Amino acid sequence: MTARLEWWKSAVFYQIYPRSFQDSNGDGDGDLRGIEQRLDHLEWLGVGAVWITTMYESPHVDGGFDISNYERVDPRYGTNEDALALIDAIHRRGMKVIFGYVPNHTSDQHPWFRDSRTSRRSAHADWYLWCDERPNNWIDTLGSGAWQWCDERQQFYYHAYVPQQPDLNWRNRDVRNAMFDVMRYWLDRGVDGLRVDVLWRLIKDRLRRNDPPNTKFDSKEDPPWKRLEGVFSTNQPEVMDVLREMRCVTDAYDDRILIGELYVGISELMKYYSGGHGAQLPFNFELVVNPWSGPLLTSVISRYFGELPVHAWPNWVLGNHDQRRVATREGEDGARTGAVLLFTLGGTPFIYNGDEIGMRDADLDLAALDDPKASLAPKYARDPARTPMQWSSAHAAGFTTGKPWLPVARDFGERNVERQRADPKSMLNLYRDLIALRAREEAILTGDFLPLEPQGNFLAYIRASGSARFLIVANLGDADAFETNLRGTIEIATNRDRDGDEAAGRLDVGRREALVIRLK
Ligand code: GLC
Repeated sequence: MTARLEWWKSAVFYQIYPRSFQDSNGDGDGDLRGIEQRLDHLEWLGVGAVWITTMYESPHVDGGFDISNYERVDPRYGTNEDALALIDAIHRRGMKVIFGYVPNHTSDQHPWFRDSRTSRRSAHADWYLWCDERPNNWIDTLGSGAWQWCDERQQFYYHAYVPQQPDLNWRNRDVRNAMFDVMRYWLDRGVDGLRVDVLWRLIKDRLRRNDPPNTKFDSKEDPPWKRLEGVFSTNQPEVMDVLREMRCVTDAYDDRILIGELYVGISELMKYYSGGHGAQLPFNFELVVNPWSGPLLTSVISRYFGELPVHAWPNWVLGNHDQRRVATREGEDGARTGAVLLFTLGGTPFIYNGDEIGMRDADLDLAALDDPKASLAPKYARDPARTPMQWSSAHAAGFTTGKPWLPVARDFGERNVERQRADPKSMLNLYRDLIALRAREEAILTGDFLPLEPQGNFLAYIRASGSARFLIVANLGDADAFETNLRGTIEIATNRDRDGDEAAGRLDVGRREALVIRLK
């Protein structure tokens, strides 16, 4: 059975934020050649697929998610030849490669928009969302009005993100065809899949109705972009038509996949599998967006598995370049426990680069912040989770010989790949051992998931296949005892001193500690 599992079900995915992964030429920006130099790390860790976040030509107003040419690598990351060499190098190591795909919006410097803005009769006049008057109350992701006046065309255009990221009009057939050609451009060059940026936003209400206020909005606590509910500006049923068309594009090739970025509720998320004709992996952010407590995660995980359509494959994420890092949110022990969940819940795990060594959000000076969200308030800046990868205790953590584009976090001397590789009890070796366990144990890879009754602040479940059974106990609160009549041996504990211990009856489990127990 395991042998026939599709590659994207068995692989562990690893997200690379290319600007911060490895610089090969000393200019302070990570690049594609740098990634190639670091493939040993990924292979050693047991990674099966690498997702390169985005590295296309871009003015970089929004970290490269404002693309001015979808078919060119931005010079700061290298050349198209470097991209081909990287695809090849990844494949030669038996790994797969996913590229970013940003279909919702282009940069305002993209030739399509530059033409569109010139006049209502331009060749690309209808490629973006234009109107004479602001039609509604929609806001952008900074919380400001989403309709931007354009002097040249004497009209407003819509942008879900910053004004330099105009939204494409996906109801226009020419837009669809052009963007499907973009997909084919990279699929033809051997890319194994695409991570579709903000998939749920592609289509907006045809009638452009006002979004209703978010009744739970707390102006003191919540960021300003949460004040409306995107009922009409996002997650429209017609997105599924687009998604199914995208899927037809990838299905014309062997074995290629779509990963969807989706910040929607669980029931909505399931629609994006679209009966097997949508995304293979609609991102499941439940472990990112929910506070971690035993009862809450038990219920969220049960709901997620419970609502999963037949034949749909689950996935799990602990972090990415938009979120606070898991070790910052949950602490060192929590991040270790998170790793146990990530690799044993069942489904495809996604690692965000640096989380495997427990990198934390860096404490950055205001002047260093680059993210447009910083303009709102420094606390919203996503840069702290995007600092350079900490490879060693050398200059700039081994990331660059020059001056890194964003400062390296101060803890790099103690927290780096080189040190953790040498320490069998490190976070890095915990990741590696859990990945290896998942790869060799069918119970963990494809076995049944059996949740146990909630107990205090514990999350506990069994993974079973044939006679092999594992009990996973995660304590999401303070030190406590877990009562069970199951018996076994601890295969991997977040506190590695407990590996190999016998487990029976009452289990003492430390604060934010997790145990993977092979049952007798
Ligand atoms: C996605 C990206 C994020 C970006 C946004 C707009 O959410 O992950 O980094 O700002 O899309 O493209």
